[in-house]
Amino acid sequence: MADIILGIESSCDDTSAAVIRDGWLLSNVIAGQDVHRSYGGVVPELASRAHELNIVPVVSEAVSRAGLRKEDITAVAFTRGPGLLGSLLVGTSFAKGLALSLGVPLVMVNHLQGHVLAGFIKQEGVMNRHPSFPYLCLLVSGGNSQIVRVNSPLDFEILGQTIDDAVGEAFDKCSKMMGLGYPGGPIIDKLAKSGNPERFKFAKPRVPGLDYSFSGVKTSLLYFVRDRMAEDPSFMENNREDICASFQKTLLDILLDKLVKASEMTGIRDIAIGGGVSANSGLRARITAEGEKRGWNTFLPELKFTTDNAAMIAIAGWFHYMAGERCPLDVAPVSRTADF
Ligand code: KG4
Repeated sequence: MADIILGIESSCDDTSAAVIRDGWLLSNVIAGQDVHRSYGGVVPELASRAHELNIVPVVSEAVSRAGLRKEDITAVAFTRGPGLLGSLLVGTSFAKGLALSLGVPLVMVNHLQGHVLAGFIKQEGVMNRHPSFPYLCLLVSGGNSQIVRVNSPLDFEILGQTIDDAVGEAFDKCSKMMGLGYPGGPIIDKLAKSGNPERFKFAKPRVPGLDYSFSGVKTSLLYFVRDRMAEDPSFMENNREDICASFQKTLLDILLDKLVKASEMTGIRDIAIGGGVSANSGLRARITAEGEKRGWNTFLPELKFTTDNAAMIAIAGWFHYMAGERCPLDVAPVSRTADF
């Protein structure tokens, strides 16, 4: 009999549900939350309220788009964390209630593991190519920047991670600082396409090993814009594209430098990327070019699986389910990975 996993994701500001049958994606429904746009960032209380409104229609839609009834579900997988506690609470409580009412097992998933395993989602009519174990995954999102050694679907080793801001946070905060809007990543990505990446230079961190740091480059941009604006108030307006291209290039140089080191240190040449920032067109091009130069097998997630979605939670949940893992009904969501 087929194993049908319903995945539920509610860690930040996207309410999502997806159905996977034996690793094949049947549906993936995402409801975003526009309410945060005018605040220039996610407002946790508003996010939880929107999840409450969205969760029932999103789950119903995912089950119906899969051509199934809720009674067909074999297990319910949900994001336990990390993320915003109030948001996680909505998805966790809903998953528990549904699993209990259907009499099926509950499986908890680490959101970051979902991002890493997104590349294993199988889709009808799509070339389903995925890395061989062990491989390296550059996990880059609004909350994390890590180089992960993936030994198997359920065995991860963090080789390096940010010691301060995440790279997505640097994109978002700097976009806000430049008055460009939120979320900053896609805005800077778009403007960078028509700018000169070599025009301006920003400070790069010197962090030992495979760890990252992005707070210095953020400060470097802040002082740079402040000083130039003092000389010429229209500086930002006249140089927006070049600033974005140069800033983005600095972030990508930092990311690539450590990733190359990690590959050299481990001898691993299967390289994947995941997380919201993996949608960045510059990063995708750089990883592809670096891969061609160094003989890597590179794996870029489809754009729809880069930002938060429940398909990645369902696939990760499927791996956990197949390994016999179940979670008790009294499990609580956690805001930080360290609390897992
Ligand atoms: O994975 P995600 O949806 O949520 C977290 O778990 O954090 O990532 C959101 C982050 C935001 O910082 C957003 O600015 C960034 O991903 N992002 C991008 C792009 N699209 C989204 N950053 C750079 N370029 C993009 N095209």
